[in-house]
Amino acid sequence: MNVASRLPNPPAAALAERPSKTARDSVKPPFLGFGLGLRAQHYDEILNGNPPIDWFEVISENYMLPGGRPLRTLDRICERYPVVMHGVSLSIASTAPPNFEYLQGLKDLARRVEPKWISDHLCWTGVHGKNLHDLLPIPYTQEALDHVISRVQLVQEFLGRAIVLENVSTYIQFNNSEMTEWEFLSELSRRSGCWLLFDINNVYVSAFNHGYDAMTFLNGIPADRVVQFHMAGHSHMGTHIIDTHDHPVCEDVWDLYVAAIKRFGRVSTMIERDDNIPPLDELLLEVNRTREIAERVLPPAGKRAG
Ligand SMILES: [Fe+2]
Repeated sequence: MNVASRLPNPPAAALAERPSKTARDSVKPPFLGFGLGLRAQHYDEILNGNPPIDWFEVISENYMLPGGRPLRTLDRICERYPVVMHGVSLSIASTAPPNFEYLQGLKDLARRVEPKWISDHLCWTGVHGKNLHDLLPIPYTQEALDHVISRVQLVQEFLGRAIVLENVSTYIQFNNSEMTEWEFLSELSRRSGCWLLFDINNVYVSAFNHGYDAMTFLNGIPADRVVQFHMAGHSHMGTHIIDTHDHPVCEDVWDLYVAAIKRFGRVSTMIERDDNIPPLDELLLEVNRTREIAERVLPPAGKRAG
């Protein structure tokens, strides 16, 4: 019998107000530097060349099958580089019962990888056991907030650690939303204790698609809750932008990155490329650019801006 099917959804309002020991004990994850999303195309180059990348983000689901080359390769990369786990199937906002088999898989992988943190997205990905493999948006209502907080608390208690949640790119908005996305994320982080992964490209994409100012979003997120930046490319269709991750980071998003590090400070940053994947050297140029900009914009570690 599926474990998840025996467990009802937690009562949202009750759990949402329950203080979480895991969240209270959570220490802010460390600054890792400037990293890259690990992709199979680069396994050999990384293992043979030890490129100057500070850390890697791995897609959790790619390594949740026992054995095989991906897991063996990941073991070797973990010996050399700090790693964080980034999932796409947590479906934290879903109203379906929590998938404890998936959560156990995440926990087992984390035991092996010892990631600096585990992240996923503020979204839902399916219902009735179906994974639609898309990061679907939610209405920003008080009811949804209570529900997601209860789910985050449940996941954090199961994993024994605070998780990190990312803002997704969106293409629709809900008429019944009662708050902005940045207000929702801020409250979610404050009340559940989860940390935030601030995807700068996603903010740019959503701001364009919905006609608001990306800086309003950026300034609405509490600086002390952000532990990671994503930088990625997109496809501009003229009337709207699609978050394809198949292009280099565009100049507007680099400008937003400058504004983000001015507001959030030293935050672990990585280049996220998922399609049309170029040789490693090409992505290294983008990783180096994140480092160069941060070093130019921020005072040296240990010194305060005058
Ligand atoms: Fe992202």
